[in-house]
Amino acid sequence: MTTVDLPAVSAIAAAVHVDYPEDAAVFAERLALYPQGCYVLAEEDGAGARIAGYLISHPWTFAQPPALNTMLGALPSPATTYYIHDIALLPAARRSGAAAAIVALLIRHAATIADNISLVAVGGTSPFWAAQGFARRAHPALDAKLASYGGDACYMSRALAGAPLAAPR
Ligand SMILES: CC(C)(COP(=O)(O)OP(=O)(O)OC[C@H]1O[C@@H](n2cnc3c(N)ncnc32)[C@H](O)[C@@H]1OP(=O)(O)O)[C@@H](O)C(=O)NCCC(=O)NCCS
Repeated sequence: MTTVDLPAVSAIAAAVHVDYPEDAAVFAERLALYPQGCYVLAEEDGAGARIAGYLISHPWTFAQPPALNTMLGALPSPATTYYIHDIALLPAARRSGAAAAIVALLIRHAATIADNISLVAVGGTSPFWAAQGFARRAHPALDAKLASYGGDACYMSRALAGAPLAAPR
């Protein structure tokens, strides 16, 4: 992802995440803070390349997912998790294996940053994440942090490089 892609990223987010709106500034901030964690899926459709999906991720603090549509300000150092902020594909680009492929790539990168990778699963996608090796981490301290994501949101994580995963604080 580059800054040129940001309007397309916002348009996909608005179309896919109707119930989880985030400002364009949120995407721009993540790209500025951690460009190596931001990707777009470019597809050739005969009329040239178009962006059909995106993934945003960055180092973060375990069990402290940012509230929806908030700025981070800065990344923690050291990080205690590698956090997937969002992945969204336009419907026509789904079920192609692209999502699983980028998550697998990201897991290799995340293992150089922290001993776990985490995210907030929304919109009934927890089975997708479970298929990628993530498991739900329930803890009362997480409930307030998840409130901004709606009722079905759950925090999920996967240990990396065989490291044991600490309990949420
Ligand atoms: C979640 C999302 C990125 C998955 O993309 P996708 O292209 O369908 O995923 P893939 O094709 O790589 O599928 C990988 C595997 O997960 C499975 N899978 C995908 N979505 C699933 C779902 N909602 N429930 C159960 N399994 C699912 C696929 O069948 C596939 O399994 P297989 O390898 O055994 O065939 C896509 O559905 C999407 O953009 N959804 C809307 C945005 C969203 O909710 N993002 C998640 C925010 S936490």
